[in-house]
Amino acid sequence: MISVNNLTKVYKLTASKMKELRTTENTKIAVNKLSFEAKPGEIYGLLGPNGAGKTTTLRCIATILKPTEGSVRVNGFDTVKEGEKVRGSIAFLTNEIKLDAHFTTDYMFRFFGRIHGMTEEQIDKRRDELFTRFDIHSFAGKKIEELSTGMKQRAAIAVTLVHDPEVVIFDEPTSGLDILTARTVTDYLKELKEAGKTVVVSTHIMSEAEKLCDRIGIIINGKKVIEGTLADIYEQTHTDDLEDAFFELYKENGGDVK
Ligand SMILES: Nc1ncnc2c1ncn2[C@@H]1O[C@H](COP(=O)(O)OP(=O)(O)OP(=O)(O)O)[C@@H](O)[C@H]1O
Ligand SMILES: [Mg+2]
Repeated sequence: MISVNNLTKVYKLTASKMKELRTTENTKIAVNKLSFEAKPGEIYGLLGPNGAGKTTTLRCIATILKPTEGSVRVNGFDTVKEGEKVRGSIAFLTNEIKLDAHFTTDYMFRFFGRIHGMTEEQIDKRRDELFTRFDIHSFAGKKIEELSTGMKQRAAIAVTLVHDPEVVIFDEPTSGLDILTARTVTDYLKELKEAGKTVVVSTHIMSEAEKLCDRIGIIINGKKVIEGTLADIYEQTHTDDLEDAFFELYKENGGDVK
């Protein structure tokens, strides 16, 4: 269970960032009073254009960033006051996760399993499950630097999920992956949901949100502009297509449609 309550995150901008964003303001409100809940047994999708605040939100949930205002609870634990407990019950995945190139998947898996306080037997059992699920056995003993991008991604996913967390947060789950690996990942997210886990993903890909998510929250400029199942969103926007709904909402909420 994840509950995000009035989350606001303001970044202080460096001079170079101000230039990049073409602004004279020295702060940027990345997330603006955002609230939503993701429940066990569902995949909740944060859908929004580049710069909408998706990654910032997920980093706040994962305790990597501290909210400027508002709060986030994961399984009842406050991400600021009880960060360690939150970290014990989540996996935070992104495509930027890099495992140390000099080690093997096997070594990293065992290393993180021990960090999470697992016994060798527990690690072995989990290793068998995940390495089979992601077809890792054949390269588990090879150094990470020798693996292809898809293999590295699968290895990173297995290592991050070693402790069988209740909550899985995935920033852009299929970005950079070929369709086979992407499908393996999205199928696995569906299995996690079936197993009663809470899954939150971010994406800017409409078709991915449509296929994968039980409920979607669309965020534009750090604000949630709509939320619900696909059917709810179609009804509220008088459309029958997520892309059309998105453009409607984007225009209504001050986005430039070129
Ligand atoms: N460390 C930072 N310092 C300053 N501004 C930042 C920082 N990180 C993000 N931002 C700004 O905050 C806003 C939200 O960024 P964020 O990365 O959360 O968006 P996103 O929805 O994940 O976008 P994308 O689809 O491109 O990944 C953007 O305007 C971005 O430029
Ligand atoms: Mg992002």
